[in-house]
Amino acid sequence: TVLVVDFGAQYAQLIARRVREARVYSEIVPSTMPVSEMLAKNPAAIILSGGPSSVYAEHAPTLDRALFEAGVPVFGMCYGFQLMAQTLGGTVDNSGAREYGRTELTVSKSASTLFEGTPDEQSVWMSHGDACSAAPEGFTVTASTAVVPVAAFENDEKKLYGVQYHPEVMHSTHGQQVLEHFLYRGAGLSPTWTMGNVIEEQVAEIRERVGTKRAICGLSGGVDSAVAAALVQKAVGTQLTCVYVDHGLMRKGETEQVEKDFVAATGVQLKVVDAEERFLTALAGVSDPEQKRKIIGREFIRVFEQAQAEIVAEAAGEGEDVAFLVQGTLYPDVVESGGGAGTANIKSHHNVGGLPDDIEFELVEPLRALFKDEVRMVGQELGLPEEIVQRQPFPGPGLGIRIVGEVTKDRLDLLREADAIAREELTAAGLDRDIWQCPVVLLADVRSVGVQGDGRTYGHPIVLRPVSSEDAMTADWTRMPYDVLARISTRITNEVDEVNRVVLDVTSKPPGTIEWE
Ligand code: XMP
Repeated sequence: TVLVVDFGAQYAQLIARRVREARVYSEIVPSTMPVSEMLAKNPAAIILSGGPSSVYAEHAPTLDRALFEAGVPVFGMCYGFQLMAQTLGGTVDNSGAREYGRTELTVSKSASTLFEGTPDEQSVWMSHGDACSAAPEGFTVTASTAVVPVAAFENDEKKLYGVQYHPEVMHSTHGQQVLEHFLYRGAGLSPTWTMGNVIEEQVAEIRERVGTKRAICGLSGGVDSAVAAALVQKAVGTQLTCVYVDHGLMRKGETEQVEKDFVAATGVQLKVVDAEERFLTALAGVSDPEQKRKIIGREFIRVFEQAQAEIVAEAAGEGEDVAFLVQGTLYPDVVESGGGAGTANIKSHHNVGGLPDDIEFELVEPLRALFKDEVRMVGQELGLPEEIVQRQPFPGPGLGIRIVGEVTKDRLDLLREADAIAREELTAAGLDRDIWQCPVVLLADVRSVGVQGDGRTYGHPIVLRPVSSEDAMTADWTRMPYDVLARISTRITNEVDEVNRVVLDVTSKPPGTIEWE
């Protein structure tokens, strides 16, 4: 394991992902963790992340010198670099020598471990106020910039390395190569961490834990729960039962994908609860978005609990004990809620509105150590259908929050048609990966005048909301090709009755959210 010590500001997650892209397993630990505890994890290497602090700031995070004396290879980046310099007796000046953004780096010693085979001049991404002016004793300075005399150093004998910039960001053109040099050449690691290994390990672990008991898993149609379920199914087969609540608010074909394709690909035992009528009845007459969300969340929990109780009772009738609940919790959730690997952090991030508090099950969370893109790779490796593995985010309350106005069966059917057309054209144009997601929204309470054939129409508008994003926290509207927009517009107005206008949402987030409700 490579430990990534997190000095704040989200850099650590990106670094951990880059290390894993180099096929070396990595984990994030907070900088407040005592060095003895870090070393007790027996890390193969340690990376110190950047962070928002100045080493001169009052409560700036520090590091025990012991970290550098344990014989473990260490790579400091940005703040981690400065901390390394300062701790080992180099000089860090608070001189106002700032650099932000793209900077030209001059590599001064090409026989370096980190920079071998990279150009003498390369673009890197800087973000710092302080600067290192003298490397610690025993270190060789390997790069500089116009502003910073010591922009990288290394002590090959002690396996200590550092760079002032952020090699983990895309703008540092040779960043990944430099990181890999640290891992492979500096720390002597091999690129052996693969999704195949992850699956093998997880399957063995799940088998061991579940034993002869039974497990249940709620499927939402999304990537995470599907992959989690497939992994558990591979481990314990028919000891797992999945529950899929069809709330009638799914998009066209999605329920069939779960009912047929997912089951065919995994052989999973599935209980489908057709609750469309129940949801529609509960939603009748409701237009307020928050109220809709609450109703859908509440009904979902009730239906799920009932299905769960039935499964538990059936198993009990056969003398079996349902003891585990499978959840698709991902690594970013674990990091963000402060839990390290292995800590029991009972929090339901999943499904509509979360699951009930009084869970009497133990959680099985086979994706706790994985990032989203890794979950997709695991899914692919497990042979799940492409439509499920590559699925874009879709909200738990489904189309219920994409109809502005009351939710009715007719309106849902109409929106399903429009949405299916938009998705089909986006896929045909090869835009699925460029677009984070594209909500299609029906303005059911709005009508406008149009003309079709020889007649006047008075129909509803459909809104297209294509967005680009990294994490859904912020987003921008996607500048997508006009001809694709034109095709979607023509097809929707031609093929969907009662829709006579298609409009494009050109609002970023903030101020708009991605969904309309
Ligand atoms: P907003 O609209 O808040 O959406 O910008 C951010 C991301 O979250 C999704 N979303 C949800 N996902 N349950 C979910 O599982 C929900 O209630 C929910 N509401 C919004 C949305 O699609 C986007 O990806």
